[in-house]
Amino acid sequence: MNLIISSFFIINLFLGICRAETNKFFEIDKKNFIAVKIKKDLLGNIERGKKIFISRKVNCLSCHEVPTIEEKFQGNFGPPLGGIGSRYNKEELRLRVVDAKSINPDSIMPSYFKRIKFERTPAEFFNKTILSAQEVEDLVEYLYSLK
Ligand code: HEC
Repeated sequence: MNLIISSFFIINLFLGICRAETNKFFEIDKKNFIAVKIKKDLLGNIERGKKIFISRKVNCLSCHEVPTIEEKFQGNFGPPLGGIGSRYNKEELRLRVVDAKSINPDSIMPSYFKRIKFERTPAEFFNKTILSAQEVEDLVEYLYSLK
């Protein structure tokens, strides 16, 4: 019996550590659909954000169009993002980038700051996030600048 109780605590402690780790940069508030920045000195940059946005690494443009970007072949799986900075504040935008699936679990949009742990994830990507916390902030600044 004691063993069961102590293993329960050990498992919980372990889960607690994991949770704290994923939430080192952003705290997700699922009730209000926002992600709050914990590290206040982590500052995004609009120009860097734009570069990430149009890069092939994240492929935002394969699903979204932004009228102010000249790139060809913009997608329409997702809503157009022109003027998105007037519709959402930074905390709302951050959650959409960090983990769109926490809003809609069936979303086809990837969760860009969630550790990838699928069974068949290649070892080099396993337990890693697609974007770094810095890149998330750069994207948030860029999206927020689209007024
Ligand atoms: C595979 C397609 C896909 C990709 C890639 C994708 N998105 Fe999305 N995105 C969507 C869809 C679909 C929605 C609509 C809501 C939903 O289903 O989650 C969405 C919603 C959004 C929203 C909220 C829009 C609104 O009006 O509510 C933002 C902001 C956004 N995406 C930003 C991005 C950024 C930034 C990237 C790249 C880092 C990106 N998306 C990559 C498909 C995608």
